[in-house]
Amino acid sequence: MNFGVIGYGYWGPNVVRNLATLEGSHLLAIAEINPTARRRAQKAYPGVPVTSDASDLILSPEIDAIVIVTPVWTHYNLAKTALENGKHVFVEKPFTSNSAQGEELINIALRKNLTIMVDHTFLFTGAVKKISNLLHEGTLGKLYYYDSTRVNLGLFQHDINVLWDLAPHDLSIMDYLIKASPEAVVATGQKHLNGCEDVAYMTLYFPEKVIAHINVNWLSPVKVRTTLIGGEKRMVVWNDLEADEKVKVYDRGVDVTSREGVYELLVNYRSGDMWAPQLEQVEALRHELSYFVDCISNGQEPINDGCAGLRVVKMLEAASESLSNRGSLVYL
Ligand SMILES: NC(=O)c1ccc[n+]([C@@H]2O[C@H](COP(=O)([O-])OP(=O)(O)OC[C@H]3O[C@@H](n4cnc5c(N)ncnc54)[C@H](O)[C@@H]3O)[C@@H](O)[C@H]2O)c1
Repeated sequence: MNFGVIGYGYWGPNVVRNLATLEGSHLLAIAEINPTARRRAQKAYPGVPVTSDASDLILSPEIDAIVIVTPVWTHYNLAKTALENGKHVFVEKPFTSNSAQGEELINIALRKNLTIMVDHTFLFTGAVKKISNLLHEGTLGKLYYYDSTRVNLGLFQHDINVLWDLAPHDLSIMDYLIKASPEAVVATGQKHLNGCEDVAYMTLYFPEKVIAHINVNWLSPVKVRTTLIGGEKRMVVWNDLEADEKVKVYDRGVDVTSREGVYELLVNYRSGDMWAPQLEQVEALRHELSYFVDCISNGQEPINDGCAGLRVVKMLEAASESLSNRGSLVYL
């Protein structure tokens, strides 16, 4: 598979590093409009042509797939031109700036029999794979809630607010774990510095009483990446910043019973063991790019296809509507 990568800013070098060494992939060219970033790419990959014009890659007959690692507002145009020129597309999260754009890209890909993969990197981490197994094999019991704190100082994005920047990680994880769309969304937040919300809170109501909350913040003095996942039988604490033992499973919970003839409910707290399951240690992005090559070669629909990207964009759109009305309930 011959690749062209557009965008060599913060995240682009990670994609390029993996593509340059991945079996089955051949990095043919990089496009970057910023001259400083272009020089960095040239220095790191002297054998790879680096151009300022993305259309050199999109129009090249040698390139099979285009990887788009540019700001969100540019995703739609670049992806559309790439698909129209017969290229498979791997595009960064969030997929597009709105759902109409996402739907159009999905239709073009369908018509031209091309693959779209949206970089929902966390789905390929050992932690999310393990949590998914624990949930779907019944170890956690019925899911009650998903509660995530994803805060740090910066990196400020200029074209999107903190929800569109950081929440896609949790929304794509929830989409994968819960396998249902939320019924309604509430979001609140505040703009302090550059006209975009830099602190935001999002609540999602899923079917069957599953509730989710996401706290995202660019103004936090410390970096926190902690998610609590509560089930009827067991609960998980996932601290992504821990070097070892990122995921801990607690055999703790609450049992409610009612004694016959007694009308008040009896609440019993359960306390049991905690264990830290072993997690797969591969780099998630590498695993994901290799899966992209496999999906194209085998004609397989990726779990993180355009439709998955679109579901996340729809949640973000609902959150934006709620945010602009100071937390009104928005139904999806
Ligand atoms: N999956 C993840 O974990 C993850 C992490 C960080 C960023 N991202 C996503 O990656 C994308 C880029 O984010 P970033 O932080 O690297 O941004 P960035 O601003 O650091 O880098 C983007 C680069 O794209 C270049 N660019 C813009 N338009 C271009 C064009 N038409 N042709 C060629 N180059 C162009 C810019 O000059 C810049 O160097 C965003 O969608 C972001 O959400 C994903």
